[in-house]
Amino acid sequence: DWTPDSFIDETVEAIQEKVGNDKVVLGLSGGVDSTVAAVLLNKAIGKNLYCIFVNNGLLRKNEFQSVLNQYEGMGLNVKGVDASERFLEALAGLEDPELKRKAIGKTFIEVFDDEAHKLTDVKWLAQGTIYPDVIESVSATGGPSATIKSHHNVGGLPDFMKLKIVEPLRAIFKDEVRRVGATLGIDPELLGRHPFPGPGLGIRILGDITAEKVRILQEVDAIFINGLKEWGLYDKVWQAGAMLLPVNSVGVMGDERTYEKCVALRAVESTDGMTADWVNLPYEFLQKTSNEIINKVKGVNRVVYDISSKPPATIEWE
Ligand code: XMP
Repeated sequence: DWTPDSFIDETVEAIQEKVGNDKVVLGLSGGVDSTVAAVLLNKAIGKNLYCIFVNNGLLRKNEFQSVLNQYEGMGLNVKGVDASERFLEALAGLEDPELKRKAIGKTFIEVFDDEAHKLTDVKWLAQGTIYPDVIESVSATGGPSATIKSHHNVGGLPDFMKLKIVEPLRAIFKDEVRRVGATLGIDPELLGRHPFPGPGLGIRILGDITAEKVRILQEVDAIFINGLKEWGLYDKVWQAGAMLLPVNSVGVMGDERTYEKCVALRAVESTDGMTADWVNLPYEFLQKTSNEIINKVKGVNRVVYDISSKPPATIEWE
């Protein structure tokens, strides 16, 4: 019988046997899988685990600092690397979603490789790969958007990718990962987080990305997500977020005509992201959220709610 406790015992022992006294590097994303993998490895090898958490500047509002603090509080040996500027430079002027993904993926790899090179004698690369990822990478149809969107599609082989691989979650499913995480004492709020795409807000700002657009979208997203939490809706939704549209629309404020940005809110129900239905959020919630966004976020004068299901619409707009 599979239980989190037996899984943890067996996995810790297997990791110790596999990597011995070698050093291991792992990239933390703030997501459930990489976090649970890190805590398991930390339990097995302690300070020989070197975690790297990269801020690509496209995370949610305050997320880099708060998640980094959380990681440190969990006793992880983690280095936070703020590479926001580098990502913005790599993205400057790019409008095509796939080009933006490639630029973000490539920059991440460069930053991670630079950091990995600062560590001496690392032998292993740990990853939070879970069973569905394993299936996905060998299946013809691909997993979430695999064939439609090039998620981490980058050329060349940086040095850290030549390391030996350790993937402690390779045989288990998401719900099992969450149970293991809970048994390891990881904060339930962290374990219950919605999925968030690797390119982050970079694919939720339609068209080209600027620091100002990131700031606007972070504010809008924070109001929406905090509202979902306050209204007890967060856990009923599989994934939610806001998109900054590349159009201005006319509005009116006092006697003035405005010509400002429009944002779309999206919340979906799903089990694996392959198909999804838009969520019938209460009108009252949408009304309050819309008012708060328009009143508080400078530069936004219109909010719409996305009522498209997948297929044919995807969850992300890019
Ligand atoms: P779509 O938009 O294809 O998204 O319906 C399905 C799920 O995948 C996530 N997604 C991504 N995740 N890199 C990621 O790590 C990406 O480039 C990417 N594109 C989409 C999306 O957030 C949803 O959960």
